[in-house]
Formats: sequence, C-alpha cells, structure tokens
Amino acid sequence: MQETIEAVWKAFQADLDSFPTDRREVDSLKSKYFGRNGALAKLFSQMGKIAPEERPGAGKLINDLKKELTEIFDAKSAELFYNAESTTENVDYTLPGETQRIGTIHPVTKTLKEIKDIFKSIGFMVAYGPEIDDDYHNFTALNFPQHHPARDMQDTFFIQENVVLRTHTSNVQIHLMENTNPPLRYIVPGRVYRNEAISFKSYCLFHQVEGLVVDKYISFADLKGTLEYFVKRIFGNDVRMRFRPSFFPFTEPSAEVDIWDDKRQQWLEILGCGMVDPAVFENVGYDPNIWHGYAFGLGIERIAMLKYGITDIRLFFQGDKRFLEQF
Ligand code: DAH
Repeated sequence: MQETIEAVWKAFQADLDSFPTDRREVDSLKSKYFGRNGALAKLFSQMGKIAPEERPGAGKLINDLKKELTEIFDAKSAELFYNAESTTENVDYTLPGETQRIGTIHPVTKTLKEIKDIFKSIGFMVAYGPEIDDDYHNFTALNFPQHHPARDMQDTFFIQENVVLRTHTSNVQIHLMENTNPPLRYIVPGRVYRNEAISFKSYCLFHQVEGLVVDKYISFADLKGTLEYFVKRIFGNDVRMRFRPSFFPFTEPSAEVDIWDDKRQQWLEILGCGMVDPAVFENVGYDPNIWHGYAFGLGIERIAMLKYGITDIRLFFQGDKRFLEQF
C-alpha cells in the first residue's frame, strides 16, 4: 500500500511540473487524481484487499495524501486562473456570472422618506438639530417643571449633569424658534434616546419626526386637518384614526393620535400633538399675543410597524438581512 501511495505521489509531482495552462486540461488532470475513477478513488478501493488490522493506518495515509494533493492542486490552479493575466484561453465565458448582492433601503429610511415627501408637498421645510443637547433645550424651555418625571434618570440618558441624549425631537422646536423669526413651518426628523427596558415595543433609541407651525392665525382645526391629511396619505383613505385628549408640558391643549392596528386588533399611538403653549413662546421671545402655533411629534418605527405589519421594534436595529431584504 505504502508503495502505491508513493507512486501516486510521484506521478502527481511530475504532473505538477508540467501543469497545464488550459482550463480543460486542468480539469482532466483534476479527474485523473480526484475523479470517480481517479488515482485516489483507486487507492480507496484497494482498502478491501488489505488486512483488517492495517486498514485504519492505511486509511489515514490515503486521507492525508488526498488532503495534501487537494491543497496543492487548488493552490496551483487558483494561481493560474485568478492571478495570471487573463488571456482568452483561461477565461471560460460559459460560466454563469457571479451575482452581486446589493443592499436594500432600511424600512425606517423608507418610511421617513414617505413622511418627508408628504409634508414637503404641503409646504413644510425640513430641518435638523442636535442629538446631544442641554437640559434647557430638551426640557426647561419646553415648559417641563423642574421635577417632572420625564427628567428622571430612568427615562433620560444623562451625559453630564446638564447634558442629555435628547429624549425627543422637540428640542429642535426651541433651536428653530431661537434662530428664526416667525412665521415658520418645519418638520424635523431625527434619532431620539430613552433609557427604557427593551422589549418588542420599546427600544433605547428610535426615530421621530417633529412638526412645528407658527403663524398669526393658526388653530386646532389646522392641526387636525393637517394630521388627518397626513395619516390618510400614508395609510390610505380607509384608515381608522382617532384624536385622544392628552397632556404635554409644551402644548395646550394636547392630543395623541391612534391608528387602528388590524393585525393586532388594537389602537396604536403614533403621535403626540397640540397647540404650542404660550409659555414656550415666551421662552424663545415670541409674543404669544401675536403668534400661535401647533406642534406634533410622530414615531417613525410605529408608523413603519403599522404599514408593514412588523410586530417587534427590535428588528429595526438588528441588521438581519432576512428582515431587511423584505422591504
Ligand atoms: N415629544 C413628545 C414625545 O416624545 C411628542 C410630542 C407631543 C411632540 C406633542 C410634540 C407635541 O411636538 O406637540 O413623546
């Protein structure tokens, strides 16, 4: 057996020295050794003829040989076909092409684009603001009392005593009004952070789109009309929506909008809204006797979940291709 193995090894080395450059010849050399009737297969077939006690040792020898020959052969042909300058001879045009996998648009990005397009079409401009902000812009200027529970460590990621990861995009309302004279009509997309227990319905970061409209004659009817228009465009005319009275420190009166989730047979809140509280106008130096406004803040993941029937918010953040490729 030992001798036969050595003979194969020698023959192989000789063939290596005159290794072919043509793919078809390489293929036939390959089958000479590795094919169904190749040298290695023949070696294996002789196993039956040797004494049982010698079989394990012989088996190992053949296996080692096979491994070694495969490595050498693969390296040699790879060198030939991948590194060598390509010539018409060593390119096989009949091989199928390699498909390039391309990425897909993330469902949050996709939903955000739709939201932006709808608001832009009715005269809103798009602005952005800081994700790391001071307590003043995230809370105080928005009329949050000093000991409001939302300031609690349980909800807010503090970076320093007065510096937070914004808990909502409402901080940009303040920046906008500090830097712009009314009237104004903006939406503000962005990422927000909450120090919450992670579950199918809450994650430590998510995305919102803030809306702010300030002008001389703005009423709750404008707010309702705009949001109803938005909801019908994003979910279709048959959507079931409801305004539910609520409370936010920076709006008065305030409401939330729920959408009927047919899949789960329950209402799902998608946004908070209200008329800008006069105290907020005073904080930014707008005269509340002249200027009125409405604001809203909607959750992008919530809208994407309803639109696409997604039931776990964590899926948006896991980068799992099986999930992402569905959109
Ligand atoms: N900032 C609120 C939140 O994160 C959402 C919100 C409610 C935004 C009412 C608004 C508003 O602009 O008017 O829960």
